[in-house]
Amino acid sequence: MKFICHPPSSQSRKIIARDSKVISSSYSREFDFVFDHAKGCHIWDVDGKKYLDFAAGIAVANIGHAHPAVIHAIKKQIEKGSHAAFGDFYAELPVRFVEKLLTFVPPHLNNAFLSNSGTEAVEAAYKCARWHTNKKWFIAFEHAFHGRTMGSLSLTKSKPSHRERYDPFLPVVHVPFPYVYRMPFSSEDECVQYCLNKIEIAMKKHHGDIAGLMVEPIQGEGGYIVPPDNFHREVKKLCERYNVLYCADEVQSGCFRTGTFLASEQFNVKPDLISLSKAIGGGIPMGVTLANKKTMDWIPGSHSNTFGGNLIACAAGLASLDVMRKQKLGENAKKQGKLMLKILQEMQERHEYIGDVRGRGLMIGVEIVKDKHSKLADEERMQHILCHAAAEGLLLLGAGQSVIRICPPLTLNREQVVNGLVILEDAIKTVKP
Ligand SMILES: Cc1ncc(COP(=O)(O)O)c(C=O)c1O
Repeated sequence: MKFICHPPSSQSRKIIARDSKVISSSYSREFDFVFDHAKGCHIWDVDGKKYLDFAAGIAVANIGHAHPAVIHAIKKQIEKGSHAAFGDFYAELPVRFVEKLLTFVPPHLNNAFLSNSGTEAVEAAYKCARWHTNKKWFIAFEHAFHGRTMGSLSLTKSKPSHRERYDPFLPVVHVPFPYVYRMPFSSEDECVQYCLNKIEIAMKKHHGDIAGLMVEPIQGEGGYIVPPDNFHREVKKLCERYNVLYCADEVQSGCFRTGTFLASEQFNVKPDLISLSKAIGGGIPMGVTLANKKTMDWIPGSHSNTFGGNLIACAAGLASLDVMRKQKLGENAKKQGKLMLKILQEMQERHEYIGDVRGRGLMIGVEIVKDKHSKLADEERMQHILCHAAAEGLLLLGAGQSVIRICPPLTLNREQVVNGLVILEDAIKTVKP
C-alpha cells in the first residue's frame, strides 16, 4: 500500500487498506486523511486528529461544515420525502429554491436547469448553447477544468491525465488563458492582447459555427489563475461581435467564494449562461445552470435527468443561501481574503520558493517554484509542504502543477487565518530541498 504523506495512524491505516481493495484506482488522493466528522472550519479524522480546514471539501463547505440551519432543513424535508421525480412531476420546493437563487444573480438570468454535480451543470450549459444556436463548435481555455463527463471533458484541458485515452472529443478549440506569471510578456496588457488575438483567430476560423465559449472567471483546478481585470470584458465583446454565447463556469468561483456571489460580477461581465455547483447545495450534491429564458429555449425532452431538483438538495441549498446572506459571507470572504493575501505576500518576500501569490476573496493560490529567478514549478516541494502542514493540523489541497490552493469555509475568522498561515509558513521553512 502506498502512503502519500506519512503512514497514518491505526484507524486511518485500516480504512485505507480496505479502500484500496474495493474502490476504483482512478481517484487521485493527495493525503492519507480519512474523514470522520466536521464542524465549522474544522475537520477530524478517524484517529481523532483535528485539522483547520483550508480546503472546504474542494470549495464546497462555503458556509462551514455541518451548519445547524442546513441540518434542520434536511431533517425537516427528509420526513416529508426526498425525491419528487422533478423531471416528470412538479414540486414547489425546487421552484422556491430557484426563485431565491435568482435574487442573488443579475436579473437577466431568470431560468434554471437543475442537476447534481459540476460536470452536469457545465454539460447542461454546453448542450443548451448548442441547442439554442444549433451550432457545433465551442471555445475553451488551456488549463481549464470543467468536469469529467465527455462534454465537459472535451472542454477541460488542465492535466493530460484527465484526457488520456478518451479521444475523440467533441469539437472544441482550446485557446490560451492569460496566466500572467507563466507567460513571456512584459506587461499584463500584452498578455491579454496575445490571448484575445488567439480567441479572435479561432472565432474567425469557425465563424458561423461556434455555439459558445466556456470560461472559468478564475481558473480553479488549473492553478487558481486570476486573469487581468479587463480580460473577461474584452472576451465578452469578442463573443458579441462573433455571435458566440459567453458561458461562465462558476462551479468553484461562485457562491461568494471570491467576495461577490458570482466572480463574473467582479470582472463586470454578464454571462449568457452560468454553471454553479459545489457550495450551492449546502453540502448536498447539486448543479444549477442559469440563463435567460430566451436562451434556455430548448424543447421538452431535449435535456432532463432523474435527480435534478432533489428535495433534500433544494432544502439544503435554500437554507445555505439564507446563511450566506444573513452571515454576510461575501463581505467576510473579502475581508479575510485581503488579510490572507497581505500575510502571504509578506511571506513571499521571505521565501525563495514562493513564486507567486494571487487570488480574490478566499480563492487564493500560492505557486511553489524551485527559485524565483527560474520560476520552475516545484511539484515535489509543494507536495511535501502540503504533507507537513497536514501533519501539523492544516488541511490544504494542490492545484495546477505546483500551486497550493487555499479555499477555506467563508466563515473563517481572523485568528484562524493567522493560525493557518503560521502552520503553512512553518511547513515552507521545514521542507528542505
Ligand atoms: C470550475 C469547475 N467546473 C466543473 C467542475 C466539476 O465538478 P464535479 O466534480 O462536481 O463534476 C469542477 C470541479 O472541481 C470545477 O472546479
